[in-house]
Amino acid sequence: MNYVKSKQRVADHGEVFTPAWLVEAMIDLVKDETERIDARFLEPACGSGNFLVPILQRKLAAVERKFGKSNFEKQHYALFAVMCTYGIELLADNIAECRANMLEIFADYLTLDESDELYRAAIYVLSQNLVHGDALKMRTSDGQPIAFAEWGYLGKGKFQRRDFRLDSLAMSSTFSVEGSLFAHLGKHEIFTPTRTYPPMTVSELAARAAEANL
Ligand SMILES: C[S@@+](CC[C@H](N)C(=O)[O-])C[C@H]1O[C@@H](n2cnc3c(N)ncnc32)[C@H](O)[C@@H]1O
Repeated sequence: MNYVKSKQRVADHGEVFTPAWLVEAMIDLVKDETERIDARFLEPACGSGNFLVPILQRKLAAVERKFGKSNFEKQHYALFAVMCTYGIELLADNIAECRANMLEIFADYLTLDESDELYRAAIYVLSQNLVHGDALKMRTSDGQPIAFAEWGYLGKGKFQRRDFRLDSLAMSSTFSVEGSLFAHLGKHEIFTPTRTYPPMTVSELAARAAEANL
């Protein structure tokens, strides 16, 4: 594997990729979380997914162990595993590679192709969760505040979505500090979603991919 694409990109963006052995050692530090389907991971400089891909692989291994015998549950929990991985990346080619790498892992696990609704639902989820933007400025590449979808699996094929702005999520720890102006407030009073969606099925998520021309 090449750890750099060009000297210029290293100088401009600090783009040096992490070797697989080091990624494995690092994510082993939170091994239990990586093996939990609903543990949420955000990689704020995700490159082409050197961390997110093995995290998704571990989550999918957990899906197989827990739900491997039921195709319906396996498919929905595998999509939920994708929903619990998030990334931000400054460079357009890297974020495109990251989405493609994640999609490939998901599609291989469920033996899907482009004609499958689940495949297109995953394209939609990845377009929402893997953001082309600046993690320091907390803005997308077109200057909007970054917002992330909090997905939940309600069972029976339905997913819930609520969106939260990254800048308010990042303030979370500040608000929790004892003695701070906001410490007496419950988190729900400060962290309200910017949007709440009605429960959605895989078909509805796939339709959103089509609407967005993905
Ligand atoms: C050191 S590389 C690491 C990539 C990947 N996490 C890995 O370990 O292989 C840093 C990545 O962060 C991206 N990057 C640099 N500044 C960024 C910013 N402000 N917001 C988001 N991504 C950024 C670069 O384009 C590059 O892909």
